[in-house]
Amino acid sequence: MIPSARILLIVSGGIAAYKSLELIRRGRDRGMSFRVILTRGGAEFVTPLSFASISGEKVYQELFSLTDEAEMGHIRLSREADLIVVAPASADLLAKMAHGLADDLASTTLLATDKPVMVAPAMNVMMWANAATQANIATLRARGVDVVGPGSGDLACGEEGSGRLSEPHDILDAIERVLGHEKLLSGLKALVTSGPTHEPIDPVRYIANRSSGKQGHAIAAALAKLGAETLLVSGPTREADPAGVAVRHVETAAQMLAACEAALPVDIAVCAAAVADWRPARAGNQKLKKNGANTKSLDLTANPDILATLAQSKTARPRLVIGFAAETEQVVKHAEEKLKKKGCDWILANDVSENTGTFGGDANTIHLVSASGVEDWPTLSKQDVAQRLARRIADHLRGAHA
Ligand code: C5P
Repeated sequence: MIPSARILLIVSGGIAAYKSLELIRRGRDRGMSFRVILTRGGAEFVTPLSFASISGEKVYQELFSLTDEAEMGHIRLSREADLIVVAPASADLLAKMAHGLADDLASTTLLATDKPVMVAPAMNVMMWANAATQANIATLRARGVDVVGPGSGDLACGEEGSGRLSEPHDILDAIERVLGHEKLLSGLKALVTSGPTHEPIDPVRYIANRSSGKQGHAIAAALAKLGAETLLVSGPTREADPAGVAVRHVETAAQMLAACEAALPVDIAVCAAAVADWRPARAGNQKLKKNGANTKSLDLTANPDILATLAQSKTARPRLVIGFAAETEQVVKHAEEKLKKKGCDWILANDVSENTGTFGGDANTIHLVSASGVEDWPTLSKQDVAQRLARRIADHLRGAHA
């Protein structure tokens, strides 16, 4: 496996400190490890015990704690990290950093480090807009500190505007960018299908399904972030085109297949689209009339299987062909059968039975089924599933996995 990023997380005072617990939890899902320095202000909002439990590590607080200094001095804390992340970064800590103050463990570590530093500010809108804070941020940027956010919206203080701590997944994406993980797939081409297909019955009606396209779009974005030249072939969805990804918009399965075949050769194909299995055998040129009929039957004909076509291509099979299996029971067993039947390399199986909320929802519980066995992933956001899959693909193609 690619070595996990070792993050030294400095949590300063602010109501947003609780979000850092989520940052750690999701970061660990992406394979990162965290050590936490909690400032006196930070400890007013979240207890050291919460950070210790969620990071699985001791939490560091006092500069002059004899035991801390003996076991792990501030120099070693920084030396043993790949990146220092300050989240939330309070106006006060940013000012200390800009002016080189070193009167507690956090500020001393920041002054003494030779590692890259990222800050994610969070504060009241007026404090953020204040010329002093803006000058401090400009100074820090000029010294090479990465600044993530802040976002805008409702603030904890009841006001609205700029000053919200960036969302954990945005901070984690920024961490991965800074650490250069995005380059793991550079030089490789990826093809991703996403969304439903619409199969016309007549000019105004069609057969469709409830796929939102969230997972497929997130996968295309994650592959592109790791440096793959990525084409997303998308059925009709409400999702925005992901940044850095070429997108072909299609409606029907036949169009989706044609767009995929035109994209070959590629190194990686991920078929996340919920392609309609059937289409009306003859789509009417004119709107079908009721003509007083109480029943009407529709002749259906099978659609091409895009995943199987790519996986079984004699001339241009991608090196890694990945499909999804949405199941409502015996998830892994059905996925194993699908792997064989379609001839793909991996199946990401997920349970879409009622009340899992997978369809259209934001989370997904994946079992990665391949010839070498089954990996059970924890429940993750669709973005984190995408990140994890992209990293896993990079590991595989770089030979870290058989
Ligand atoms: O057979 P089933 O629809 O359950 O298989 C799901 C997998 O096959 C998904 O990866 C889906 O994108 C792909 N698929 C396809 N073309 C079809 C049907 C499914 O690419 N016509």
